[in-house]
Amino acid sequence: MQHELEPETAATRRRYDRASTYYDWQVWPMELLGMKRFRRVVLARVTGPRVLEVGVGTGINLPDYPAGLDVDAIDLSPGMLARARRRGGIQARVHLHEMDVQTLAFSDGSFNTVVATCVFCSVPDPVIGLREIRRVLAPGGRAVLLEHVRPGGRRLGAMFDRLDPLVSRAGPHINRRTVENVRAAGFTIEVEQNLWSDILKLIVAR
Ligand SMILES: C[S@@+](CC[C@H](N)C(=O)[O-])C[C@H]1O[C@@H](n2cnc3c(N)ncnc32)[C@H](O)[C@@H]1O
Repeated sequence: MQHELEPETAATRRRYDRASTYYDWQVWPMELLGMKRFRRVVLARVTGPRVLEVGVGTGINLPDYPAGLDVDAIDLSPGMLARARRRGGIQARVHLHEMDVQTLAFSDGSFNTVVATCVFCSVPDPVIGLREIRRVLAPGGRAVLLEHVRPGGRRLGAMFDRLDPLVSRAGPHINRRTVENVRAAGFTIEVEQNLWSDILKLIVAR
């Protein structure tokens, strides 16, 4: 990456570089418990030919893109990208880039679909990142997101708010209002589907 990162973005990159060595092991139980199925719900919404996946991580989604798609996939963390490069079973044409979603190096209107799974809990300024996604979407294109968010219930929401400063020291934020952030970035929400309670959501926006 060419430019100097903001301190919070640089800290996020360091955190995921460290996590890259054990990330797949850490998420494996969740994948077995249903995440894998939810990821497929997301990927079923993808239309091409040009797709951007932001925060691709170790590339867990990559084998599920069908052949024939051109997928640019970006991540802030070189460590996560190194794992993604070794991911097997990929059919689509995938191009990996080290890049910050808050400053995408793609031209306006480049992509038919932008995908993000469990990313906007970690991006330091999610609205700026989501605005960048909107900018690079072609007219009629869609953002398809799978994100965990702050629960809506008064007590549970307040509990997530109290725990967030502690949890986010070592991991992602647990109280992001991603649906509201998607709207704040200028999108219109087409689908907001609760996949697990009201905490894990599929969000489709244009
Ligand atoms: C929780 S992991 C999710 C990885 C993958 N999407 C998945 O579903 O397994 C969050 C990913 O977002 C990346 N990330 C965080 N902030 C980012 C940013 N500003 N730009 C690009 N990637 C970012 C992290 O490096 C990390 O790989």
